[in-house]
Parts: sequence; structure tokens; C-alpha cells
Amino acid sequence: MKILLINGPNLNNLGKRDTGIYGNTTLPVIVAAVKKRAKELKVQVADYQSNVEGDLIDFIQDESASADAIIINPGAFTHYAYALRDALVDADKPIAEVHLSNVYSREDFRHKSVIAPIAVGQIAGFGWRGYIAALELLVDRAKNNK
Ligand code: DQA
Repeated sequence: MKILLINGPNLNNLGKRDTGIYGNTTLPVIVAAVKKRAKELKVQVADYQSNVEGDLIDFIQDESASADAIIINPGAFTHYAYALRDALVDADKPIAEVHLSNVYSREDFRHKSVIAPIAVGQIAGFGWRGYIAALELLVDRAKNNK
């Protein structure tokens, strides 16, 4: 089983960026933690981060055929990026949407996700642990046929 781990804009700055909201954990540390758990679960993870919507779409187009599921934190693209959403629809794989922060306790514009309706589910507000939960949920779901 192979899972894509995709992070959108500004998430490369985790650890420096608004630590009161996003915490001190950097993206490389999060990716390493997900890969460690994936190894225990005997699952492969291919990770990618970009600040550019088109680059995220290229990665999804290039990699989704060989993947079984997708974990994505689309950053602010969550709230308006229809082209990214279309690429995820075309990928036709189970999606877990992850947010470090509880987007529903923040500004109104963060309450809408254009990705959530095409995802299996969304995890928001648990910081970096949300990515581990997403991995475990997708793997369990695949093994147990939903
Ligand atoms: C975020 C929430 C988004 O609203 C924001 O634009 C981000 C990070 C989160 O992980 O909490 O960049 O996706």
C-alpha cells in the first residue's frame, strides 16, 4: 500500500509560522513521524510540499495512479482552490483532509472547505497528530474494506 502525503502553501514554514496556532513542530519532523508510523504499518509514503497550486496538481497527476490513498493539508487552498479539488477528484482515491488548527474556531473564511465534500473525512485541530491519525484511519479503512 502506498499513500501520498501532500502539504500546501506556507506549511514549509511550520515551526516558524504562527506557533501559537500551528505549534513548534516543523514539516520535516511531521513527515518523518508519518513515515516512521507508516513503516510500522508496512505502508509506503511519498511526500510533497509546494506553495504553488499547479505544482501540487502535477504531483497528484504524476503520482496518484501508483497510490492507494491521499493525505492532504491543502493550507489556504482548502478554502477556494477548485483546480486542486478537480485534480483530487480525477485521482479517484480515498482522501483524508488534515488541518493542524481547528479551522472552525477561526475566521469565517476558514470554515468552508472545497476539498471536504470529496474527502472520506477531515481531521482538524489536533496539530501534527492529525497526520498520524489520518494515516492510521486510511490504512485501517483499506485493510477492512471501509
Ligand atoms: C491550515 C488551515 C488553513 O486555514 C491555513 O490557511 C493553513 C493551515 C491548518 O493546517 O490548520 O495554511 O490548513
